[in-house]
Amino acid sequence: MTSIDVRRAAPADDLLIADLRRAWTEENHGGPVDDPGFEERFAAWADRERDQRITWLAVAGEQPVGMLNMLVFERMPWPGQGGAVDRPGSWGYVANVYVRAEQRNAGIGAQLVAACVEHADSNRFARIVLAPSERSVPFYGRLGFRPAADLMVRPSPHP
Ligand SMILES: CC(C)(COP(=O)(O)OP(=O)(O)OC[C@H]1O[C@@H](n2cnc3c(N)ncnc32)[C@H](O)[C@@H]1OP(=O)(O)O)[C@@H](O)C(=O)NCCC(=O)NCCS
Repeated sequence: MTSIDVRRAAPADDLLIADLRRAWTEENHGGPVDDPGFEERFAAWADRERDQRITWLAVAGEQPVGMLNMLVFERMPWPGQGGAVDRPGSWGYVANVYVRAEQRNAGIGAQLVAACVEHADSNRFARIVLAPSERSVPFYGRLGFRPAADLMVRPSPHP
């Protein structure tokens, strides 16, 4: 198997990420999804979101095989904060964790999560939050995540 590199995505990678997003949707859908405007919508979304999101890409050679996206919440500054850089200023919400079906169970997902955790720890993030699918709970559990009793959620009233 070609070796896997995990790297931070750059704006030039938008189409590779859109390609993974399409692959994920089509996997769930069970076949091709006819939406010729998707890539353009995706690029506009990526442009709007760029300042507050970090995406990691897993690539085998030039081929994108997986991704992970983290929305970074930067806390509101407070008076007297001064140079207190050792106080947690940010936290992250992880979403869009995906590895192509034919490449799964080879540790690529774990490599993506490790890259994001490394970033969060070296920037002293207060926490990383995510909403796992039932199937991925053991996966995240092995990577240091635990069920949260200290957060609240208001589910949508809409069916
Ligand atoms: C979750 C996912 C990113 C893991 O990627 P991966 O490269 O296979 O991860 P690793 O090889 O490091 O770890 C394998 C573990 O992933 C989990 N996993 C395997 N297939 C999975 C699937 N279809 N969906 C969710 N988790 C899965 C299992 O816990 C597996 O370990 P186990 O078989 O020992 O229990 C990948 O399975 C995936 O893209 N799933 C579909 C999208 C998804 O569910 N994303 C997460 C939503 S929160």
